[in-house]
Amino acid sequence: MRAHQFSRDAVIVGGCGRVGLPLGIALASRGLSVTLYDINAAAVATVNDGVMPFDEEGAAPLLTEVVGAGRLVATTDPASVGTAEHVVVVVGTPVDEHLNPDLGAVPRALERCADHLVAGQLVILRSTVYPGVTALTEKLLASLGAGVDVAFCPERIAEGKALTELFDLPQIVSARTPDVVGRAEKFFRNLTDQIVPLEPEEAELAKLFTNTWRYIKFATANQFWMMANDFGLDFARIRHAITFDYPRAADLPMPGFAAGPCLFKDTMQLAAFNRNNFVLGHSAMLINEGLPLYLVSRLEDSYDLSSMTVGILGMAFKGGSDDPRESLAYKLRKILSLKARETLCTDPHVKDERFVPLDDVLAKADLLVIACPHQEYTALDTQTPVVDMWGLTGQGVRV
Ligand SMILES: NC(=O)c1ccc[n+]([C@@H]2O[C@H](COP(=O)([O-])OP(=O)(O)OC[C@H]3O[C@@H](n4cnc5c(N)ncnc54)[C@H](O)[C@@H]3O)[C@@H](O)[C@H]2O)c1
Repeated sequence: MRAHQFSRDAVIVGGCGRVGLPLGIALASRGLSVTLYDINAAAVATVNDGVMPFDEEGAAPLLTEVVGAGRLVATTDPASVGTAEHVVVVVGTPVDEHLNPDLGAVPRALERCADHLVAGQLVILRSTVYPGVTALTEKLLASLGAGVDVAFCPERIAEGKALTELFDLPQIVSARTPDVVGRAEKFFRNLTDQIVPLEPEEAELAKLFTNTWRYIKFATANQFWMMANDFGLDFARIRHAITFDYPRAADLPMPGFAAGPCLFKDTMQLAAFNRNNFVLGHSAMLINEGLPLYLVSRLEDSYDLSSMTVGILGMAFKGGSDDPRESLAYKLRKILSLKARETLCTDPHVKDERFVPLDDVLAKADLLVIACPHQEYTALDTQTPVVDMWGLTGQGVRV
């Protein structure tokens, strides 16, 4: 009966963002008709032109195809939310400047379009949320008399890999009743056969634990690196010895800026959830966020920065990405702007009119710091000293 009411298979609220758009493309590539509802009119127009507003591997040709076929459309019209059986919510869920989670981001987004919800719809929360937000949203929708089912099915892709991982990763699915779990499961079987059911609160924690675990692993590598480096040793050699044919340590990362829109803020969401008492999480934050300061203080030991032009290579939050959100390269730039005579920034993927071309940086800088491990920096043609804590250039990671 439900299917008769709807002209589309899915509407994605926040559908032109870094997570919503690849999801929409993936579903449309599997034959579903998908509408992307987003308040960003510029992104909506770009998507409807069949153009990606940001880089995502493999997305551009698929987008052109599914937009051309009419299976993917974007709109700023909230009424679109009433056109599909499945309403997926994937708006941003940041922490504020005092590291407080915004519990209202997902409920607010739904409240804005609640008038258009139709009884019998399945609302799937996909944003990463503070534990309890699913229950809060259920309460809100019940109080509005929406008559919809709610599921929480977290997104676990890594930006840049969405269009393989959406099909390869198991999907965690949670809801209050087996019937609603079944509805959500059926929807995600369009993407993957591996479904992992959980209770909503378990699923909320599962997503936060996933990102926090990764953030803590990076912090561990970063602290090991600082220890070895302060002792005059090359951590790259030590790490190679630890991980070589030794599976129990195989996931020890190399050092580097652990940043981006998710890992830090999700660790802080978990800290807030644990009554601001999360020693491991807070320690990881101090280590990872302190890395640019450590790096500059080590450089000050070897160089008179005040007489030097320093070139920062790579401003994105991770290698190969065009996403500058929460990138620690900007923190490095801020610190260097106080210490160095001049600081020049460059990035092959991030568009910013303040940046200069790589060749200009190579020509002018007295010192180069790789702040993001873009492949473009693996074989730099330069006589200028290159600071590379990532091991990208294969010359060790001593600074
Ligand atoms: N970026 C990642 O790699 C990643 C991975 C897994 C999970 N997540 C989670 O997914 C969520 C979204 O992250 P993102 O990186 O895609 O964020 P984003 O900022 O790129 O996308 C959010 C989109 O929502 C739109 N939006 C905001 N409020 C809206 C509203 N009321 N109605 C309609 N549209 C609205 C914005 O215009 C934007 O296009 C977050 O909870 C994040 O933690 C992100």
